[in-house]
Amino acid sequence: MRQMLKTRLTEKLNISHPIVSAPMAMAAGGALAAAVSAAGGLGLIGGGYGDASWLEQQFVAAGNQRVGCGFITWSLARQPHLLDLVLAHKPAAVMLSFGDLAPFADKIRDAGALLFCQVQSLALARAAMAAQADVIIAQGGEAGGHGASRATLTLVPEIADELARQASQTLLLAAGGIGDGRGLAAALNLGADGVLIGSRFWASREALVHANHHAAALRAGGDDTIRQRATDIARGLDWPEEFTARILQNQFTRRFANKEAQLREEISQYAKAYADATISGDAEAAGVWVGESTGIFHDIPDAGDLMQRIVREAVDALTKSAASIVPGGA
Ligand SMILES: Cc1cc2nc3c(=O)[nH]c(=O)nc-3n(C[C@H](O)[C@H](O)[C@H](O)COP(=O)(O)O)c2cc1C
Repeated sequence: MRQMLKTRLTEKLNISHPIVSAPMAMAAGGALAAAVSAAGGLGLIGGGYGDASWLEQQFVAAGNQRVGCGFITWSLARQPHLLDLVLAHKPAAVMLSFGDLAPFADKIRDAGALLFCQVQSLALARAAMAAQADVIIAQGGEAGGHGASRATLTLVPEIADELARQASQTLLLAAGGIGDGRGLAAALNLGADGVLIGSRFWASREALVHANHHAAALRAGGDDTIRQRATDIARGLDWPEEFTARILQNQFTRRFANKEAQLREEISQYAKAYADATISGDAEAAGVWVGESTGIFHDIPDAGDLMQRIVREAVDALTKSAASIVPGGA
């Protein structure tokens, strides 16, 4: 018998599994989002830094599946019309991360989409509560891509407690380092209603990722990742100081991760080389965007098969935990 995990998230979204795929800039297109939704979760398209024609193409690629979309909030603030473009596609949810969500919250809700907010601290969770987010995602620093330094293991229960006190209707997802069913089981035990998974879906067939990057991630372990800013400087991106990005260590990070001032000064020499390396899939000269969970996965499956696998593993992990309880008497 196929088992399911029922949580407040599956009920609110009317989905089968408490799993949302992250809106990964460049990597999470419509095909990945649709595959996750078709397999019983909710897939999010990665709106990233915003490109209208790319976004339109990805909603076409998602077909009739019910999907959502995520934005990097400080970047959306520079192109707010992109929110109208996305809302016209009637997304199930819009996720905002990295910046002030207040200017966009009402518009998202008024359009009938659920408002998802990703946060990296209790202070940011409080701001998301003030904006009446429907779903808060507590993102720990194990995560691939941009984030901050708090660990998932303490951030999730701390925000769960705060929500229980102040906004018990708001749902909570855990993100950062969840790469298999053990992570999903742990997140549910920490008080989350589900998980948002990025890196593990980045390592799926539907993700828009160069084969060289997948191969590099399969060779790597969690120790081989690093949080750094050099990739943002090389791309001329104006990221707020509090966020860094986790990627694989490679020739590029070894050269620049601790020499960010030098890279900033000499950017005209390096920007084109970085852009070319990204396009050609050079896994040594450009960022390979994957988090610590790279150490616990070893293949590039179809996203739908991956969903079933994660759920099966989580059911096994939870069953095993329950079986270790020994009824005791005094
Ligand atoms: C390749 C990649 C790109 C990402 N891009 C974005 C993004 O554009 N917007 C965003 O909110 N989060 C982004 N993230 C972070 C995810 O939303 C999520 O927090 C993270 O992937 C969860 O941790 P995990 O990678 O360990 O699963 C990205 C993550 C990865 C791996």
